[in-house]
Amino acid sequence: MLTSPFKSDVLKGRVALITGGGSGINFGIAKVFASHGADVAIMGRREEVLKAAVAELSKFGGKTFYKTGDVRDAEACEAVINATAEALGGIDILINGAAGNFLCPPEMLSSNGFKTVIDIDLNGTFNMSRCAFTHLKKSQGLIINISATLHYKGTPFQSHVSAAKAGIDALTINLAAEWGPFGIRVCGIAPGPIGDTEGMRRLAPGEIGEKLKQAIPLKRYGTTEEIGMAALFLSSSAAQYITGETLVVDGGEWLARPSPVPRELVEKMVAAQTRKEPSA
Ligand code: HXC
Repeated sequence: MLTSPFKSDVLKGRVALITGGGSGINFGIAKVFASHGADVAIMGRREEVLKAAVAELSKFGGKTFYKTGDVRDAEACEAVINATAEALGGIDILINGAAGNFLCPPEMLSSNGFKTVIDIDLNGTFNMSRCAFTHLKKSQGLIINISATLHYKGTPFQSHVSAAKAGIDALTINLAAEWGPFGIRVCGIAPGPIGDTEGMRRLAPGEIGEKLKQAIPLKRYGTTEEIGMAALFLSSSAAQYITGETLVVDGGEWLARPSPVPRELVEKMVAAQTRKEPSA
């Protein structure tokens, strides 16, 4: 575990609801929140995953709650949000983390395949945010949308996810502008490659993963705990004037994506250049 720069009770008395909170990055956020005093609720589709996750979260001593539901189903979102508020006494922080992904070239992707990812990632984020509005207005709360950096450039076989995440970033900005006056902050986190997650197992298995690590300026995958710490920062008073911002947490991965011109070629060209004296 990282040594946290935050007090262990920094989220005491606050309730966080995390979609997709039973595994991966979202469970990492749940653990960081629970270990800093928050009461944590998680939502997901698989009851056995949620049950096991809540058992682990309870060890931190705060209240926990889980309810199954699919973020594509607006009625289920409403039910989860109301049940969480009733069980834990309100909602202060909503983390929209539920996501779906698979690799597929756009020319092979069915309309339903595209729609499925948009439905989970983008429509799910909207459904949960809209249903949570009244509770967040009451608590003067915060939404954190989990995005990605895929759409900063074209990413092969990720047109569906890139479109969904670009939509999420737009939603983060719009909701921040529209709900700021109600006292609600809306931020995002764009994780890069994070180890031990379903996403990386799907997107960069085996040898591909090793190559990817070498291309990251910080030379390693991030951890789910590091994403949790970013979420904790955004949830803390240190970030109380930050809204509409999506924080990239990727070890510099997207900045360093390969240039179309090979580095060796640029080096040769620079070496061959003769310095010209400025004319008098
Ligand atoms: C092409 C595919 C496909 C694949 C599904 N489809 N998998 N198309 N290649 N590998 C198509 C199906 O053929 C179908 O279209 C449509 O998508 C819906 O598929 P279902 O299996 O019926 O959907 P569903 O059961 O709802 O499952 C949703 C899912 C699934 C997204 C497809 O993979 C899932 O539940 N994933 C959740 C877990 C997950 O993905 N975690 C990783 C998130 S990582 P047709 O036309 O046949 O009906 C992440 C990180 C991003 O988001 C950034 C990383 C850097």
